[in-house]
Amino acid sequence: MTPRQSIHGQWSSRLAFVLAASGSAIGLGNVWRFPYIAGEHGGGSFVLAYLACVLLIGLPVMMAEILIGRRGRRNPVASTRLLSEEEAGHAGWVLLGKLGILTGLLILSYYSVVAGWSLAYVWESLRAAVPGVADDAAARFATVRGDVVTSFVCHSLFLGASAWVVARGVARGLERTVKLVMPTLVILLLILVGYSLSVGAVRDGLAFLLLPGRVELDGDIFLAALGQAFFSLSVGMGALMAYAAYLPRGHEIGATSAVIVAANTGVSLLVGVIVFPLVFAYGVAPDGGEGLVFQTLALAFADMPGGALFGAVFFLLLSAAALTSAIALLEPAVAWLAEARDVPRRAAAWWVSGAVWLVGLGTVFTFGAGPETAEDTTTYYAALAFITSDVLLPLGALAMAVFTGWVMCKGSTAEELGIGTGSRFRAWRSATRLLVPLAVLGAFWLAAGR
Ligand code: PHE
Repeated sequence: MTPRQSIHGQWSSRLAFVLAASGSAIGLGNVWRFPYIAGEHGGGSFVLAYLACVLLIGLPVMMAEILIGRRGRRNPVASTRLLSEEEAGHAGWVLLGKLGILTGLLILSYYSVVAGWSLAYVWESLRAAVPGVADDAAARFATVRGDVVTSFVCHSLFLGASAWVVARGVARGLERTVKLVMPTLVILLLILVGYSLSVGAVRDGLAFLLLPGRVELDGDIFLAALGQAFFSLSVGMGALMAYAAYLPRGHEIGATSAVIVAANTGVSLLVGVIVFPLVFAYGVAPDGGEGLVFQTLALAFADMPGGALFGAVFFLLLSAAALTSAIALLEPAVAWLAEARDVPRRAAAWWVSGAVWLVGLGTVFTFGAGPETAEDTTTYYAALAFITSDVLLPLGALAMAVFTGWVMCKGSTAEELGIGTGSRFRAWRSATRLLVPLAVLGAFWLAAGR
């Protein structure tokens, strides 16, 4: 095969790619979404299902996605078109790329609003140093979430920052940002683990997080675990496919993916170990929904010596981690507009972000409709969240698995993966051909039949 080149440049090294991909994976999905989804689904059984999904389903799909991107060397639409032509597949496979672009933009529309809450909590944390302010964490969260002006401003700021980075090209700047943000975030998380284990209700919290059996594992929990695995790994919508188009050849995709998966799962577990002992110590309801982390951490920061400043730094870093994920959510659409429609990259980044901003206003306003209607106002977000992570991401992942497992021939996938044709390759191939399709279809079927 003649080597292809991407018009968007290349990562300077494998490390740069691993950093960018980890930056895309580690974000609100680990810190905000993981604990609240785990809390809503009863803890231990969900966490176990999540870990199994990450390893058995997420990892092989991540390898499949990186494989397609690196072999195609173009945006997800063009890469899937090119590879399906080469492999004599059906022309309809471009839908895989198109669906992914749509999924990413829909996710970003609410991701940006939540990242905006994180930005707002920078200020909220500082304000909590004023006596009395910190007492009612639930009310404070409701105020932040329900304040249309703050949400609007923070959502706009966050998306503006994402557009600005993507307009300049992801390979510039992203490596440096991730190198700075991720280690610092992990250090703060480790400090918080120490804090939570010393003041939290450790026994109750860890039992909730790690012991299965409190609730029965059903189709619902399985689908939620699968969706969370894809969401937190950034798999199933083409972000890693787009990034992999800039990955130099000659690196082994299996090991690269394993590093990203390990880093991402480690961060989620750290967050779980922080949040649940505190949840039980403060008497926060574990199934209280999307405010869980904001409320729990705000209470902890209010009690901690120096917590106001620590909290502000933490939420700033969390917003930065969310930024490196938002960039990945934008990249497939921007790369596609720039390559296929000849739109200058800069303009493409701003147009796409503008569209996402508009759609995101729906989330801003429905959350801002006021506490009286809090129950119904979460439905817009809840529907969007369900469609993206529990339907579209699993569908995207299924398509990637079937494409690499059944449409592409064994020789080309083996050549691209670079793990030989021994047991590791066979395991990957059985996962993409059988395990992933069975798991995704099984989860859909079980959840639909509830
Ligand atoms: N994985 C990111 C997070 O956990 C979110 C994301 C999903 C990013 C899909 C890119 C693609 O925050």
